[in-house]
Amino acid sequence: MECIELENVVKKFGNVTALDGLSFSIPCGGKYALIGPNGAGKSTTLKILAGLLTPDLGNVKIKGMSPTSKEVKKILGYLPEDAMPYRVLTVLENLEYIASLRGLPNPRQRALEMIYLLNLKEYMYTEAGKLSRGNLQKLSIAMTLLHNPEIILLDEPLNYLDIPTQELVISILKNFVTSTLLVSTHIMSIATRLATNAIIINHGRVIWSGTIEELRKMGNENEPIESIVARILTKGPQI
Ligand SMILES: Nc1ncnc2c1ncn2[C@@H]1O[C@H](COP(=O)(O)OP(=O)(O)O)[C@@H](O)[C@H]1O
Ligand SMILES: [Mg+2]
Repeated sequence: MECIELENVVKKFGNVTALDGLSFSIPCGGKYALIGPNGAGKSTTLKILAGLLTPDLGNVKIKGMSPTSKEVKKILGYLPEDAMPYRVLTVLENLEYIASLRGLPNPRQRALEMIYLLNLKEYMYTEAGKLSRGNLQKLSIAMTLLHNPEIILLDEPLNYLDIPTQELVISILKNFVTSTLLVSTHIMSIATRLATNAIIINHGRVIWSGTIEELRKMGNENEPIESIVARILTKGPQI
């Protein structure tokens, strides 16, 4: 079964065409990276899948349902590009609040579990507005994952994180074995660590899609995957 489906999606902002007939689908449980240069349309795609923007044209379905439906909101975890928790609430309060809104049985306990999982104990009584950018990102990731979402959409999730924290977040995400994951990034090493499949987009269209293995095989021996992607982006997939 397909858990994420986009068909001929068009989204314009004034005279800028952000998505220009974008189509792809992701089977349930698939781990996919959405790759593309700045301005390619990655964030717009994720916002549409999260139900925050509606497309001008085309069809979008999450498990066969509209992304704006309540059913989808329950099973979706979305990390925005520049996620901003409630600034005047502490780390603990932010997590407890979201856990309550999500209707989890024991919000305080779940908040504490996420604090331990993401190594935020030292900051649990710090207001979000006073956190460093990296710790704010960790809190945002905790808020995205605390209800064990079936569908996970992450927009550049490892931004601002130091290397050990990147490794921590990668290992946490690896535990979401049955969830469907779509992670946008322009950094190939992140794509290869988190995903088995890649969808490369540019100018709001799919340029190439396939497994990361297939992508590697398109290169010469020992050619870095970044260089293969750069070639696809400039010359097209046929080379
Ligand atoms: N709210 C907006 N208003 C106007 N233009 C926008 C808006 N959001 C995105 N765009 C434009 O749409 C295109 C795609 O943007 P975006 O989806 O953010 O790309 P990416 O995340 O791949 O860098 C860009 O040209 C961007 O400037
Ligand atoms: Mg973006």
